[in-house]
Amino acid sequence: MSEKKVRRIGILTGGGDCPGLNAVIRGIAKPAMTDYGVTVVGIQDGFEGFVEGRMRELSRQDISGIIGLGGTILGTSNKGDPFHFPTEGNNGIDIVDASARTLKHYKGWGLDCLIAIGGDGTMHISKKLGEMGMNIIGVPKTIDNDLGATDQTFGFDTALSIATEAIDRLHTTASAHHRVMVIEVMGRYAGWIALQAGLAGGADIILLPEIPFKWESVFQRVIERSTRGNRFSIVCVAEGAKAAHEEIVVKETDIKRTDPIRFGGIGDHVAHKVTEETGLETRVTVLGHLQRGGSPTAYDRILATRYGTKAVELALACQFGQMVSLQGLAVTSVPIADAIARQRLVPVDGEVVRAARAVGTSFGDE
Ligand code: F6P
Repeated sequence: MSEKKVRRIGILTGGGDCPGLNAVIRGIAKPAMTDYGVTVVGIQDGFEGFVEGRMRELSRQDISGIIGLGGTILGTSNKGDPFHFPTEGNNGIDIVDASARTLKHYKGWGLDCLIAIGGDGTMHISKKLGEMGMNIIGVPKTIDNDLGATDQTFGFDTALSIATEAIDRLHTTASAHHRVMVIEVMGRYAGWIALQAGLAGGADIILLPEIPFKWESVFQRVIERSTRGNRFSIVCVAEGAKAAHEEIVVKETDIKRTDPIRFGGIGDHVAHKVTEETGLETRVTVLGHLQRGGSPTAYDRILATRYGTKAVELALACQFGQMVSLQGLAVTSVPIADAIARQRLVPVDGEVVRAARAVGTSFGDE
């Protein structure tokens, strides 16, 4: 296929939003429109909007002044997987295959390529749409940093700095009141935010999904600190962390979501047990969607821009089925299939975990 064939590129942002999405959109659309005369079509609200055919051509004005803007000008959704599309049925929600409808919109809008910006759910769907004949390029997004085959997703750095600042702030109030402060951060099955924010913020205990913890070990550490004269402790807990032999704490399940499980509640669980077993006064902060809101850091703006411009290069070279990827310091690309082959979890004996242990952080497993 010659490079000239790509005249119309569709862009979609899928799954939970994260800082840097607009910087990627700009990184794709600016060179596409200005340097190559390509028409860029923005798909509204992720795959939900794709199935429903909600899209429009983007203008230069749409993409002006958005590099530092959080959210996504296109809207997103973590519902609406075309292969398991939720619709109102007679007896509640029916799940149907709407992939043929999606392909019809792709062809109807004359798209030569779709650039899908998203996490593992988006990449799984993208791979299947590619097998149906769509020309897909992926861009790895998520604050969780859990996508395989890339050293980093954009959005993670911003979430990390927000969580670190939150821990810094909790330190002063914890110390003033001599309390145990538990902070619950996002990340689903991966503990990247908890590990790195916990390390950067000097948390005393970090609890990760990858390292099931022992209650006794957590109690012992806060008591030790209090008897030593450190009259406060900071516990940074990932939403997917769990005690050995216990289940993940789930807030709700929703079959309309690409990932039906909504995490949440482990922070309260930890705080409750600590108070009950140690008698120490405890408070919980659930950082929640603050981690996803607002402006991206400079690092994320740059990474997102590099990812966007690389995605356009791939599109014009007709290198479909690829996801842009950070390997060391270089932005390159890998097959989408490699990105979804395995989740990127915290290596339990990795260098970062070892560094945290070396400075006295407990992972609740000793
Ligand atoms: O995947 C990103 C993420 O923020 C997770 O860390 C979190 O578990 C989930 O999305 C929250 O989803 P929602 O925005 O639907 O509550």
